[in-house]
Amino acid sequence: FTVDWDASAAEKGGWPSFMDKEIHEDPQAVAETLMGRFDLQGHITLDELHVSVEELKSVDKIIVVACGTASYAGLVAKYAIEHWVRIPVEVELAHEFRYRDPILTPRTLVIAISQSGETMDTLMAIRHAREQGSKVLALCNTQGSSIPRESDAVLYTHAGPEVAVASTKAFVAQITAAYLVGLYLAQVKNVMFADEIQEVLRSLRQMPQKIQWVLDNDVDVVKKTAHKLVDSKAFLFLGRHVGYPVALEGALKLKEIAYTFTEGFAAGELKHGPIALVDEGTPVVVIVPSARNRNVLHSKVISNIEEVKARGAYTITVAEEGDPDAEKYADTVFYRPACPTLMSPLVDVVPLQLFSMYMAEAKGNDVDKPRNLAKSVTVE
Ligand code: G6P
Repeated sequence: FTVDWDASAAEKGGWPSFMDKEIHEDPQAVAETLMGRFDLQGHITLDELHVSVEELKSVDKIIVVACGTASYAGLVAKYAIEHWVRIPVEVELAHEFRYRDPILTPRTLVIAISQSGETMDTLMAIRHAREQGSKVLALCNTQGSSIPRESDAVLYTHAGPEVAVASTKAFVAQITAAYLVGLYLAQVKNVMFADEIQEVLRSLRQMPQKIQWVLDNDVDVVKKTAHKLVDSKAFLFLGRHVGYPVALEGALKLKEIAYTFTEGFAAGELKHGPIALVDEGTPVVVIVPSARNRNVLHSKVISNIEEVKARGAYTITVAEEGDPDAEKYADTVFYRPACPTLMSPLVDVVPLQLFSMYMAEAKGNDVDKPRNLAKSVTVE
């Protein structure tokens, strides 16, 4: 009596690919990264950082260094941390950082974000930062890897092992960890009231459930849309505010595994150039901000959709459930449940991850091991 045994299929736990499995672990990645890091009173406890409160109080600038998906998580965090902590946050691609003589002081906190902890570009950037006397905090998903070992402090993202080359669950975990660091800084610097921090934490805690809502509701429409657009030669992704890094990440996913020429950009730039690319049938994916609280950006993004629609674009919007404007000009809508603006990247990226996966599958590509790419790039 013999049983056919495929070790790789077993590890996928019934999912057709690691990427599919890992996207479905997005909710858990956020939940696990939050776990045990604050109490019910909303007091954040990051003693594991082993950085003194005095040192954190003195931080007057943050520079995030990272590559690829991790750099877009950093860009999302910039919007939140500057808003909460009121200190400047720069986000720099690690490979550009050390070659341009960046301004680093002992009061600069360099945050290195890396899923693998082995990306050579990021490792070289933090070596440079420490040589210049700055403190380095790593946000990393891999215990004991090089980047956390060479950093002054580390906060692990608890996304669990990520096997698919294109990063998915690590992205939402990185945003979550960076948000915890931002709120912790706000707490030690005393720039936010305890109940404000508590309110943000309450929203963060609801996010796993909201991501699950997207996974339960959007899969069919996303899949259908991917199949419909499988022959499209190029895509544009646009977003504003935190929707901008989400657009960049959605575009990167599509390049990485569907091998489609894709550009992600800030929606306000549309009129400064990219609109010239829009032609009959060009697919344009737009991240629409929440319409609540008289969000001024909402109407601006809606008019961007109208503009591209008028030039023949096929429009896909990622929008809040029940947003009538997003429906009016969209050929397809990927819905998200209502949530505060700074939380929206955690849900908005999910249909885009699924979209690239279904597109790659429809093209017959290897979703988990795209051509020419490696999971961790250990050369500069
Ligand atoms: C490689 C991967 C990307 C990843 C980037 C950064 O290029 O293909 O998916 O975003 O490295 O990796 P890291 O492990 O540092 O987050």
